[in-house]
Amino acid sequence: VGYLGRVLVVDDEPSIRKWLCAVLQQAGHSVVESATGTEALKSAANADVALVDLVMPDTDGLKLMSALKSQNDGLIVMIMTAHSDVKTAVRAVKMGAYDYLCKPLGAEEVAATVGRAAEASALRRHVGLIRGREKLGLKNFLGESRAVEQVLRLSRKIAQSEATTILLRGESGVGKDHLARAIHFESRRADGPFQTITCTTLQETLLESELFGHERGAFTDARSQKRGLVELANGGTVYLDEIGDIPPTLQAKLLRFLEDKSFRRVGGTIDLKADVRVIAATNRDLEEAIKAGRFRKDLYYRLNVMPIRIPPLSERPEDIPILGRHFAVSFSRDFKKNVEGLSDEALRMLVHYPWPGNIRELRNVMERAVLLSTGTVIEPEDLLISAPSPEPGAVGFQLPAGGIDIEELERSMVAQALERTAWNQSAAARLLRLTRNQIRYRIKKFLLAPPARQGTR
Ligand SMILES: Nc1ncnc2c1ncn2[C@@H]1O[C@H](COP(=O)(O)OP(=O)(O)OP(=O)(O)O)[C@@H](O)[C@H]1O
Ligand SMILES: [Mg+2]
Repeated sequence: VGYLGRVLVVDDEPSIRKWLCAVLQQAGHSVVESATGTEALKSAANADVALVDLVMPDTDGLKLMSALKSQNDGLIVMIMTAHSDVKTAVRAVKMGAYDYLCKPLGAEEVAATVGRAAEASALRRHVGLIRGREKLGLKNFLGESRAVEQVLRLSRKIAQSEATTILLRGESGVGKDHLARAIHFESRRADGPFQTITCTTLQETLLESELFGHERGAFTDARSQKRGLVELANGGTVYLDEIGDIPPTLQAKLLRFLEDKSFRRVGGTIDLKADVRVIAATNRDLEEAIKAGRFRKDLYYRLNVMPIRIPPLSERPEDIPILGRHFAVSFSRDFKKNVEGLSDEALRMLVHYPWPGNIRELRNVMERAVLLSTGTVIEPEDLLISAPSPEPGAVGFQLPAGGIDIEELERSMVAQALERTAWNQSAAARLLRLTRNQIRYRIKKFLLAPPARQGTR
């Protein structure tokens, strides 16, 4: 018996996809299929091996390969191509594909190659776990603001505790996935598996079967028995992303699982147990969802025993330089460039930008900047962020025919920003892309005062 793995089959041609799934399931692998690149990216995190068609309508196989690998660096990617295009296949291997398969495919060849790939994946994982532990723990969660220090202190305590349920909250892109992984590798479960599932992307039955597995014949597509993520993660951690989107009936089953760690496969009749820690995450307002009847209160209380809130980047601009440099250096390595850091002017621009997409956006900006950069430091013109106006369309004010008193305009803008933020000077400064000192200076200059004080004068 060869090595068995979780195989992701990506091909837009339904008949080939179905045939591959059948061959691989027959060989004992667990298979997920995707018809598009976008869909494939959602399943990349949990796969060991990916079989990717080189030519697809929505993406190019080579691009998809690197995107998949960036989601899951242990993933083994194999390219499928027509006989006539062996050149591209060879290029794919040079770019990091493990192997390639030529169409028309033969069942035996597919089974043998995927078996070898699954073995390579198991090996990689083993080596990666031993070597990468240090790199994956909380040390890897960068930031030196007080907010991050607090998050890290709490996370370390919780990671090393026996708590089996943790809730991560924060806006999109603040680092919930990143922290969940770090907590896993900081815990005594670090040797166990880390499984992730995004609750938004799947329909109710599929989500339940992904989580808890299914018995053969439980529903039309359930041709064989399948173990769910909680079983696969036994001894480790399950990361439930976007918990706010989980449908109500499944919420009840999840609650039961969180309370006594027991569950049933879909269509199953016996209770099973799994020893896993559940880290749930959301960027939604769960309290609002409870009021609207979309989220169970009892589940909320159960999840909220150990909450960790990661503040948005705009509340901790002190972290921007360290994160910016980190991304600059690591993309520079990836792209074989010589970037070592950022110029002072570029850093100033980053610090004043409001970062609605948080760290994910900062990462994207730095990726582009490194690609565009020609020297050893990133300059402002590489950043392509131009303090965008919050309302689309409001690009510039039109100068009225009779002209304007620019001092008065500035005074009015500062006053409005302060009013809108209830005199939170940092928040007002961010709205105007000013530093705290710059806004303080203007408050003095224009003799502005909060409403309460004005009243007592
Ligand atoms: N403190 C940090 N140090 C280093 N990298 C970070 C940190 N926080 C986030 N990142 C990186 O920023 C990117 C976005 O983070 P992540 O995917 O964890 O966000 P998220 O909160 O899960 O977002 P969403 O709600 O959209 O799923 C990732 O590439 C992650 O590795
Ligand atoms: Mg996430």
